[in-house]
Amino acid sequence: MTELNAIVLAAGHGKRMKSAVPKVMHPVAGRPLVYYPISAALTAGAHRVIVVVGHEREQVMPYLARAFGDRVVIAIQHEQNGTGHATAQALPVLPQRAHRVLILCGDTPLLAADDLRSLAKTLDSHPDAPLAMLTCTVDDPTGYGRIFRDENGRISEIREHRDLDNDAQRAIREVNPGVYCANVDFLKEALTQIDSNNAQGELYLTDIVALAAKQGGTIGFAADARSLVGVNDRAQLAATETVMQARIIEKWRRSGVTIRDGAVIHDTVKIAPDATIENGVTLRGTTTVSAGAVVDVGCVIEDSFLGENTIIRPYTVVSYSRLEAGAHVGPFAHIGAGTMIGTQSQVGNFVETNKTILHPHAKANHLAYIGDAEVGQSATIGAGTIFCNDDGYQKHRTRIGPGAFIGCNSKLVAPVDVGKNAYVATGTTVTQDVPDEALAIGRAQQENKADYAPTLRHQLKTAARVKHET
Ligand code: UD1
Ligand code: MG
Repeated sequence: MTELNAIVLAAGHGKRMKSAVPKVMHPVAGRPLVYYPISAALTAGAHRVIVVVGHEREQVMPYLARAFGDRVVIAIQHEQNGTGHATAQALPVLPQRAHRVLILCGDTPLLAADDLRSLAKTLDSHPDAPLAMLTCTVDDPTGYGRIFRDENGRISEIREHRDLDNDAQRAIREVNPGVYCANVDFLKEALTQIDSNNAQGELYLTDIVALAAKQGGTIGFAADARSLVGVNDRAQLAATETVMQARIIEKWRRSGVTIRDGAVIHDTVKIAPDATIENGVTLRGTTTVSAGAVVDVGCVIEDSFLGENTIIRPYTVVSYSRLEAGAHVGPFAHIGAGTMIGTQSQVGNFVETNKTILHPHAKANHLAYIGDAEVGQSATIGAGTIFCNDDGYQKHRTRIGPGAFIGCNSKLVAPVDVGKNAYVATGTTVTQDVPDEALAIGRAQQENKADYAPTLRHQLKTAARVKHET
């Protein structure tokens, strides 16, 4: 078998998306559409993948460089004159020795690498035919190019939906998924012969099918329509997301992860066996969930690491953070960017953290804001504590020593250090460093006025009545 190369067409406007974002950059399961066909081509063994970019290419090219590095080569289509014209732009960068090439569309994210391999084999096993293509049969063929066959059942041409003449043609349900494997010499020649005499005035790649039919045949390989959906509008985008989610969740379930219904898991996420993902959880980006971790109902975890046996209680948001083994977080906590929560640490309800390290066994169980801080081992942050880290111009850091205890409703005005095993009394506003083992107390003195409550009540009641009567 000769070397396999691939061309991915990704230069189109995607007008039906009605979007400022180029179609192929719309995300499905956390990755742009175009990622998937490129990845399928690489998995199928493509030596070089040439991606044709054009419309809004300044958004597409940096992504391709980041995601694939030198495994993809870019070709530019300056004007979007159709899929045939786009394919022609890739020819100059095809390796000289290339004998055959896969051509795929950047908007078919469910494509399977196995179908690409089968397609290449189909062409290999028909030495006289210059072209092979995937075919499929769909319930609703609207928008797809229809496959026309001759009286012997051989593919004779493809006609675009808009170029169909009558209802009988529109009723054809065998359609073109837009995935081909071509002999390179044939392709080069055929692309010089197509014209733009069609409803859209474009050069259609599909016109090479009729040319091949006359020069040895276009061989069809029937594939499962479910993996060949082309995304042209937001409804197809949503349908694709549903299929992709089902695939991702099935893969993790089979590998030993418990995943309840309603979870959304990006393709970029990793989950170890024996983790539990409860209903309605969303796992995004580079998130890793380790063995034994439980992510409870309604949590959103983004670009974060959850260590072994961590427990994330319901409705917690974790972003760009790292939770070490056995940490407990939530319910209703917000673990903001740059938080590191040490082994067996606890962060409870209505606590927000940001750019903060909590060392092992530290606790902040209720209603607190902890920003730009380091909280020492086994330290306790009481309910209602606020780390005042921002002076309106700059952020400042707070350090809490190991074993320190910060009483409820304290304010820590950064920059400030609280020493090892120090004690901050409830309601204190800490503006100076607190030495190791010291007690800091700073609150208004309380005064008790004996038997004053009835007098106060009488005054308040009278005031209310006067207001009501006037
Ligand atoms: C195309 C096929 C149609 C097939 C369908 C499968 C043609 C003429 N039609 O139609 O037979 O059933 O795919 O999904 O090929 N592109 C460019 N440059 C252009 C135009 C398009 O790079 O000038 C790229 C797009 O970015 C896209 C792909 O080619 O990734 C297909 O273009 P699209 O406009 O989606 O074609 P369809 O109407 O879906
Ligand atoms: Mg399309």
